[in-house]
Amino acid sequence: MKKINIALLGLGTVGTGVVNILEENKAQLEKTMDALISIKHIYVKNIKKDRAINTELYHLTDDINDILNDETLDIVVEVMGGIDQTYGYLKHLMTNGVHVITANKDMLAVHLEELETLAGNKEISLKYEASVAGGIPIVNAINNGLNANGIKHFMGIFNGTSNFILSKMSIDGLSFDEALAIATELGYAEADPTADVDGIDAQRKVVITSFLAFNKYITLEDCVVQGIREVSSLDMRLAAKLGYSIKLIGQAYLDHDRIEASVKPTCLPLSHQLSHVNYEYNAIYIDGSAVGDTMYYGKGAGSLATGSAVVSDLLHVIRYIDTKLHTLPPHFEIESKELLRKKH
Ligand code: NDP
Ligand code: HSE
Repeated sequence: MKKINIALLGLGTVGTGVVNILEENKAQLEKTMDALISIKHIYVKNIKKDRAINTELYHLTDDINDILNDETLDIVVEVMGGIDQTYGYLKHLMTNGVHVITANKDMLAVHLEELETLAGNKEISLKYEASVAGGIPIVNAINNGLNANGIKHFMGIFNGTSNFILSKMSIDGLSFDEALAIATELGYAEADPTADVDGIDAQRKVVITSFLAFNKYITLEDCVVQGIREVSSLDMRLAAKLGYSIKLIGQAYLDHDRIEASVKPTCLPLSHQLSHVNYEYNAIYIDGSAVGDTMYYGKGAGSLATGSAVVSDLLHVIRYIDTKLHTLPPHFEIESKELLRKKH
């Protein structure tokens, strides 16, 4: 059985979900992957904080050099958030041949093109299933399930927190602030929830999804954005009377070479399926040229839902490492990690 050394950057809502899933499913995962998955380090800001996992089993560190200088690492899982600093760490790791998994849409919406190019040049994996729609395997759906199709349009609910707030206001009669407080408590909202309620989190996901769907990069400025702050309970009651619900909808169209992208509160007829997607759930429609309309639905945020997407990426990367090892010439009889690094 091969040993796969990984490090986690971050042990918050998502990082804890990842560790819990790996612990809970350890035997099954190791058997399926024929690999021992060893978490060598977990990078956090405050090593003294109380944690929801047994920290005695892990090496928690607040020194990033423990990770950046560890030449035995195969995969780094980034679930800490932030843009510039995190991008710097990931670029360094990828340059040194380390495979990277990230849930960080803030960073990807800005640096995806560069990191994809780096991954291609280095022949390593860059995976980011959790960055769009939390637990829904939307990246996989587009990259694999729909790869026989041309895609010209997608639309959906990309942000769990704002959908949670709108649902709590319209269904349960809560105020905006009460609903946001619960979303934060449940780990759906970002550390700074401004991005959730102002549509910026959804905008970042639309930018990433545009690349996946249309194979073209757009910038954040290319996606018009409006959040939910202006949507009142009265608006929602009136909309309901007229047979509509108000949802924060992200969408993009490919028109020849041009992409038109937006995130806006939108009145949807109650007959529309997205009208009935409530609370932290996300749902995304993708129109495939061969298959027609498809829809993906599930939890767009939360510890285990998002952890599920991250661990799925981890298993894909382990398979990729395995494939690379098996395609190497048989006379290379040295340690796998050393061998793969020789290629970079
Ligand atoms: P949290 O705020 O819950 O956790 C962040 C973790 O990273 C904490 O463990 C924190 O350390 C650590 N951390 C943050 N900044 C630093 C730093 N500068 N140096 C060292 N450690 C640091 O975030 P989430 O788990 O909610 O989110 C993580 C990532 O996943 C983000 O990019 C987010 O956008 C994305 N994401 C989140 C989802 C969710 O449902 N929450 C869903 C999909 C994606 P400490 O614990 O010591 O404070
Ligand atoms: N804050 C994000 C949301 C987390 O509410 O959708 C998932 O990306």
